[in-house]
Amino acid sequence: MPTRDWNATSYDAISAPQQAWGASVVERLQLSGHETVLDAGCGTGRVTELLLARLPRGRVVAVDGSQSMAETARLRLDPRRVEVVCSDLLELELPARLDAAISTATFHWILDHDTLFARIRATLRDGAQFVAQCGGVGNINRVRTIGAELAARAPYGEHLAAIGELWNYATVEETTERLERAGFEVAACWLEPKPTTPPNPREFLTTVIFSPYLERLPEELRDRYLDDLLPALGDPLVLDYVRLNWDAAAAGAA
Ligand SMILES: C[S@@+](CC[C@H](N)C(=O)[O-])C[C@H]1O[C@@H](n2cnc3c(N)ncnc32)[C@H](O)[C@@H]1O
Repeated sequence: MPTRDWNATSYDAISAPQQAWGASVVERLQLSGHETVLDAGCGTGRVTELLLARLPRGRVVAVDGSQSMAETARLRLDPRRVEVVCSDLLELELPARLDAAISTATFHWILDHDTLFARIRATLRDGAQFVAQCGGVGNINRVRTIGAELAARAPYGEHLAAIGELWNYATVEETTERLERAGFEVAACWLEPKPTTPPNPREFLTTVIFSPYLERLPEELRDRYLDDLLPALGDPLVLDYVRLNWDAAAAGAA
């Protein structure tokens, strides 16, 4: 089943910060070059492309729940070496056991990490690496607080009051426990502050951070919300990103 859709054209144009973080995660994988690797939450496939460059004789299974993200990734990536699957990661089922998994800037969008990690473990052979990065505890606290305070006020409050939890910004301890419960051995798990000024602040907030708010607002209030939000966040806009990283391996024979 697909998940919530993203504006893939916009994300592809403005996601330089995510691409830079993703590149360093790809570098953490230890590869011989012939492996088959899962990219969990591939987006438009830019990080997948970097992963593929490290797999001259290998393959990638790239999964994303957004139809427009998956379609854009399909257009970008060589179909002879990449299978793009549009699926909710919480329902992921793959026929073969893969050699490794990577994920960048995705897992904080998924609230149930126990199910998520169990699904990923089930796609991997024993000993497979699982290297990931996502938002961690404290991620964009300042920005989220200002955005939520504005969202609670008129004329936005009546549309956004029932929005509920959108993100899962977990701690190192919670994540280590969840990974171990799902059958992974955790070599390292850590938080990394990444204060970021995005290249196009208004579009970045629209497409990435506040898209769940904006899609719940009536069309005529969307620009107004951003007009109110941007000055409240300050100029230059600094997003107080905190990334959660881990290097793990599927427990069992290597
Ligand atoms: C910020 S993008 C990151 C994309 C890419 N990894 C990158 O670093 O550019 C987050 C992606 O996670 C995907 N995503 C969120 N929840 C998902 C879920 N439950 N199942 C599959 N994909 C999901 C979104 O569709 C989106 O493409």
